[in-house]
Amino acid sequence: MQGLDASVPRHIGIIMDGNGRWARRRGHPASFGHRAGVRAIKRVLEGCEELGVHALSVYAFSTENWSRPRAEVRALMRLFHETMQREIDEMHRRGVRIVVSGRRDGLSPRMRDRIEEAVARTARNTNGVLNVCLNYGGRAELVDAVRRLVKEGVPANQIDESAIASRLYVPDLPDPDLIIRTAGESRVSNFLLWQSAYSELLVTETLWPDFGVEDLKAAIADYNSRIRRFGGRPEHELAAGNASR
Ligand code: IPE
Ligand code: IPE
Ligand code: MG
Repeated sequence: MQGLDASVPRHIGIIMDGNGRWARRRGHPASFGHRAGVRAIKRVLEGCEELGVHALSVYAFSTENWSRPRAEVRALMRLFHETMQREIDEMHRRGVRIVVSGRRDGLSPRMRDRIEEAVARTARNTNGVLNVCLNYGGRAELVDAVRRLVKEGVPANQIDESAIASRLYVPDLPDPDLIIRTAGESRVSNFLLWQSAYSELLVTETLWPDFGVEDLKAAIADYNSRIRRFGGRPEHELAAGNASR
């Protein structure tokens, strides 16, 4: 995931939706779709490496997903644990830094151990970043940032955007340039609320287990056709006429 190219997003976030529908269409339980979803993460991470996308954030489990049937939650947790255990050596070998955004409480002690091990082991890797959003909620992240500010006794007049941004789960990650949501729903479902203020959003009908490198390339091509204004006036609009008045 090295080699920065101006036309390639530096950070992509993905709301990986549609595993349940993918499985249901095949007459299988949701867990079957989640397993296929893990294979899609591997493909897309490799695609990011190949295309020069430095950071990838994947929404794996939201703070609201605990409300799903117990058997599905249990199968998901088992899958995350097993995947982390299986993939860590390979990720480390490829120089990928793994970070995990989300609340640790609520996760089992063995899951927490697995996470801490993966994070610590890959902490000095610089080829790319995989941010796994697990037990993650954008609102919870902001609540946790505010709690830290209060705990540190930061006075109100010193609280600005950078004070909040520096207390998010992974403060050194650049904001996502592009957020992709698979499976057709046009909503953010509590993903990276603070960081997505100026992200380009792309919704595709493709279900997450079907998403591959070609879909990633198409998403980046779409991203490249966008004009990002960040609230301002781009040069070409100024050049075109009276927009400066
Ligand atoms: C996304 O797929 C994966 C998680 C939320 C863990 P879903 O399981 O939400 O898939 P659908 O929406 O039921 O198709
Ligand atoms: C968003 O998908 C969460 C993850 C991808 C982990 P959901 O399936 O939970 O979102 P909603 O319920 O359709 O908004
Ligand atoms: Mg869903």
